[in-house]
Amino acid sequence: MNTLHTIAQLRAAVSRARQEGKRIGLVPTMGNLHAGHIALVEKALQRTDYVVVSIFVNPMQFGAGEDLDSYPRTLPEDQAKLHEIGTHMIFAPNVSEMYPEGMEGHTRVAVPVVSEGLCGSSRPGHFEGVATVVSKLLNIVQPDLAIFGQKDFQQLAVIRKMAHDLCMPVQIMGEPTVRAADGLALSSRNGYLSAEQRSNAPLLYQTLQQIAAKLQAGRRDFSAVIEEARVQLIAAGLQPDYLDLRDAHNLQPADVQTKDVVALAAAFLGTTRLIDNLQFSLS
Ligand code: PAJ
Repeated sequence: MNTLHTIAQLRAAVSRARQEGKRIGLVPTMGNLHAGHIALVEKALQRTDYVVVSIFVNPMQFGAGEDLDSYPRTLPEDQAKLHEIGTHMIFAPNVSEMYPEGMEGHTRVAVPVVSEGLCGSSRPGHFEGVATVVSKLLNIVQPDLAIFGQKDFQQLAVIRKMAHDLCMPVQIMGEPTVRAADGLALSSRNGYLSAEQRSNAPLLYQTLQQIAAKLQAGRRDFSAVIEEARVQLIAAGLQPDYLDLRDAHNLQPADVQTKDVVALAAAFLGTTRLIDNLQFSLS
């Protein structure tokens, strides 16, 4: 396994693999890899012959006052984890390689509607930054398959829509959320939590499970169910950013006709913002 830092080197390596008839897989990440990321890479290794993992903390998707500077950068540890499972190539460009003329004036990819609301409201410009960097990575690697986590449900929906609308010749695959034993979705940001916050954090997922259980038991007063969840989170010291019920297929607001529902939540524990979601069916 090798780590390449320039677009030209990476393109040359991937094109050699493609000439050998290999199917190319891509797993985009920002590094600080945990078992959730590794599950995506394992899936890519099963489905393709040559797997590229990109590690790039993309400044375009961070807002002012967000954690761009403090975001954990752990390349040697990430390299060891990826090497152990047989990853073929790491692409770890620096910011000037990806944005040589800076970010102002750089082309931006906007995916309206699906990127509005939820995280799109709390993090203006975030999904434009994600869609832009993911299109760059897809154009650089030109993979047959690119894999993303369902943990970032809205992000996955934005990327699917972008790839579809822009006729990108790539299959986008979403993989289930990997959780700690107590249910907390694994996230690089969990490392910011104090011991006390970490012990409260699983309540986010438990609350989503309770919402699903209430709806599956027949309740259809969506706003009352959401309000109960909000009250419970606040009582435990979590500050909900949003809590919402959407149609899992298009992220439009769920109504009593919706069959495949996704409950989505973001909440602050202190200054750390965690997100999670749970998909379920209603009959
Ligand atoms: P990052 O947060 O590093 O996540 C990289 C990929 O891992 C994303 O597809 C994310 O959904 C997935 N992932 C994170 N935690 C997961 C978990 N617990 N279980 C399963 N998958 C999980 O998401 C990004 O980076 C960036 O926005 C990126 C797409 C790389 C663009 O910069």
